Amino acid sequence: MATRLDAFLSHRGFGSRSQVRGIIRSGRVSLAGQVCRDQGEHVDGNVVRVDGQIIVEGVASATLLLNKPLGYACSHDPNEAPLVEELVPESFRHLTLETAGRLDRDTSGLLVVTSDGALIHSLTNPRRHLVKRYRVAYSGKLSYHAVARCAKGMQLEGDPNPTLPAELELHGEDSDSLSLATLHLHEGRYHQVRRMFAELGGEVVRLHRDRIGGLELPSDLMPGQMREIRASELSRLTATVD
Ligand code: URA
Repeated sequence: MATRLDAFLSHRGFGSRSQVRGIIRSGRVSLAGQVCRDQGEHVDGNVVRVDGQIIVEGVASATLLLNKPLGYACSHDPNEAPLVEELVPESFRHLTLETAGRLDRDTSGLLVVTSDGALIHSLTNPRRHLVKRYRVAYSGKLSYHAVARCAKGMQLEGDPNPTLPAELELHGEDSDSLSLATLHLHEGRYHQVRRMFAELGGEVVRLHRDRIGGLELPSDLMPGQMREIRASELSRLTATVD
């Protein structure tokens, strides 16, 4: 994990990137025992000192759970701000974190943010058939065979292969007269829920993910909150059986 010296210090409370660059250029910072005036130098696990004081290295890796609020993008592009990475607590900002799959800007709910590439692979690999549960509010009327078409797998425009079998449950209406449904997917394609509903004759108005594998969105995690996953949650997360 390549962490630049300016990012390392900025994430440990030495100020903005430009303030930190001033500190580095003034010669107050040493890396592996040598004064370092290069803000782009990589820390690579070496000891960093500011004014002779060792700056403690943070945790080496982390897996975090986020209750993603509406409006945030799963991206590192500042042009797409606000970004999910802005919600990462200070003590994890020195890590290179990625989301395991993506939720659209206008989708809320459970998102895993981790420095563990193997975990991302196991959560997103369609061959594992890990279930992701979506709560959907939609307008329009779904085709008569909607449940059966989801169960069979359907062709989506632009995709060479049909979707994997998915379970659709239809519920009643909410107070805004939107129809409600739950969709269990075992893969994660681009805008998959919205595209499936469009194919079935509906339009998704609200979309919320509240389960991945055997892990429900924890009830103590308010929208916008991100915290480290607990050991018991991690084993539920990767469970393939419901
Ligand atoms: N399907 C979508 O259409 N959007 C999401 O954010 C997740 C699944």
